[in-house]
Amino acid sequence: MCGIVGYAGGRRAVDVLLDGLRRLEYRGYDSAGVAISYEGLKIFKDVGQLSKIQSNIPNWEGGMGIGHTRWATCGRPSKENSHPFTDCSGRIALVHNGIIENHLSLRKQLEEEGHKFTSETDTEVLVHLMERHYDGNTHAALVTALSEVKGTYAVAAMAEGDDHIVVARKENPLVIGVGVGENILASDVTAILNLTSRVIYLEEGDSAIVSANDITIFDAQGNRAKRDPTTITWSIEDAEKGGFEHYMLKEIYEQPTAIHNSLLGNLDEIYAGAIIPDIDVTSVKLVACGSSSHAAMVGKYIIESMAKLPTTVELASEYRYSPGTGENPFTILLTQSGETADTLAAAREARRRGCRTMSVTNMVGSTISRETDHVFYTNAGPETSVAATKSYITQLMAMYLLGLRLGTMRQALDRAEVRNISTELRSMPRYVNGVLDEASEIENAVEMLASANHAFYLGRNINYPTMLEGALKLKEVSYIHAEGYAAGELKHGPLALLDATTPVVAACVNDHTREKMLGNISEVAARDSPVLGIGLEDDRDLAAITDIKINIPTVSPILSPVPLTVVLQLIAYYVAKKRGCPIDRPRNLAKSVTVE
Ligand code: F6R
Repeated sequence: MCGIVGYAGGRRAVDVLLDGLRRLEYRGYDSAGVAISYEGLKIFKDVGQLSKIQSNIPNWEGGMGIGHTRWATCGRPSKENSHPFTDCSGRIALVHNGIIENHLSLRKQLEEEGHKFTSETDTEVLVHLMERHYDGNTHAALVTALSEVKGTYAVAAMAEGDDHIVVARKENPLVIGVGVGENILASDVTAILNLTSRVIYLEEGDSAIVSANDITIFDAQGNRAKRDPTTITWSIEDAEKGGFEHYMLKEIYEQPTAIHNSLLGNLDEIYAGAIIPDIDVTSVKLVACGSSSHAAMVGKYIIESMAKLPTTVELASEYRYSPGTGENPFTILLTQSGETADTLAAAREARRRGCRTMSVTNMVGSTISRETDHVFYTNAGPETSVAATKSYITQLMAMYLLGLRLGTMRQALDRAEVRNISTELRSMPRYVNGVLDEASEIENAVEMLASANHAFYLGRNINYPTMLEGALKLKEVSYIHAEGYAAGELKHGPLALLDATTPVVAACVNDHTREKMLGNISEVAARDSPVLGIGLEDDRDLAAITDIKINIPTVSPILSPVPLTVVLQLIAYYVAKKRGCPIDRPRNLAKSVTVE
């Protein structure tokens, strides 16, 4: 997804911008560019990697500039369609994340007025609109231009001769890093952490003027606004690879710490209103996309069994357009980034319907955190690999904490039950470490998957969604087609696809569906599919009917998704590695999906 960086200060802006953009590379991009205030306004942009731009860019000094990495949405990847864009006179440069919905009609008007367009993008109308209104005040030109557009944006612009950058945001994140004698801005805090840990998150509709020594912020109504800086505790090292071959593996190994951090303090406060205060909840709806929606599906089992509350799960992209039933469940939106366009739209729709809302997110200060009644921060730390791993595990922790909290509020759980689950949750980092200790065994076991074109992931009950997540992980990082299936559904169709070339990964834990699951695995083995079983250490029945068995520690069935997920993540990782895939940045995918 697109990234923005801007800088004003005493350093060479080109270096700061390229360094910041490099830290956003994980989001995915197909082209990049910078505009530098140096002997006028200079622009350099191209398709391809930042390294190519770095080696070809002229030696421009200059301490102010804006940069962008583009992930094509409106207009194909090309030099012409890359940002920054400039107006006809070449006096204004602009970069943008988001979508201008009325760009076609605006473009027509502007062309009739004589503006010449050079790209196919929606963004370019913004710079021409600024030109239309520019009378020497760049901030006023930007604000007026934005008042004419329909859509979403994080935008940064600067004009020739200015000593400042102007920015604005709506439904796209933008953060300003506060330095001494220098200020930096970016669409993602990861890009600025090497310069400062003091950041200001702009609020919805804010605009700002950022120079080396000053930051002036205006709210959506154009009034001067005060936004206090937040101190980010992540170090730059936290966001880097730390000796692991890939970010994905590093982040898988960070899970014991992430689990610990997400539980921190909350388990002791279950009765004292941690997670949510005492509120009247009669039903719950969980809404999310992708991996987060699988965490939501696991959450349904947790909340129903711990709190005895009717719980439904909906994909955010479906929920936002659904008719609604007139009922107002407590609506919980799960999103690692807090910026996923569909999930944000779902949050707004839920509030419009009159629902009390809560977000479960990893990003402090993210848009969703500010647009929901309650927030639970998962505290997973920065996740760089596109595939969700530690953010997913901590979403599961949020679901357990929520289940405990709702269960105690409704007196569906007694103190002994709360104590037992809490004790097991506290041991979860140790159990996950136990799985990580088996990593080389898992690496050896994945041979049967590495050469396959198709695979099935089977589970039941709370581990049906766990296997959906396992299949998604395999698909996205190894490019193998994998289907997650509720094991009981196999005979209703997909069994026809199974043969010796279609490996099956099957999870079996000691819950009330165990016998049925063993039966389903036998059905699969009878069709000659190679089976990789994942189950408890002492489960000899499972070992007897599978080709390979991977052990997980013995935990209560309701907590089994945690160690199981870690095995599934390692399976996906090692298969992708064997197949030589670009694990951290799979083709066609982006970390944060801020467009619909
Ligand atoms: C898969 C993955 C995606 C995200 C989805 C939602 O590994 O990461 O499926 O889970 O794009 O993203 P968030 O959680 O940021 O809303």
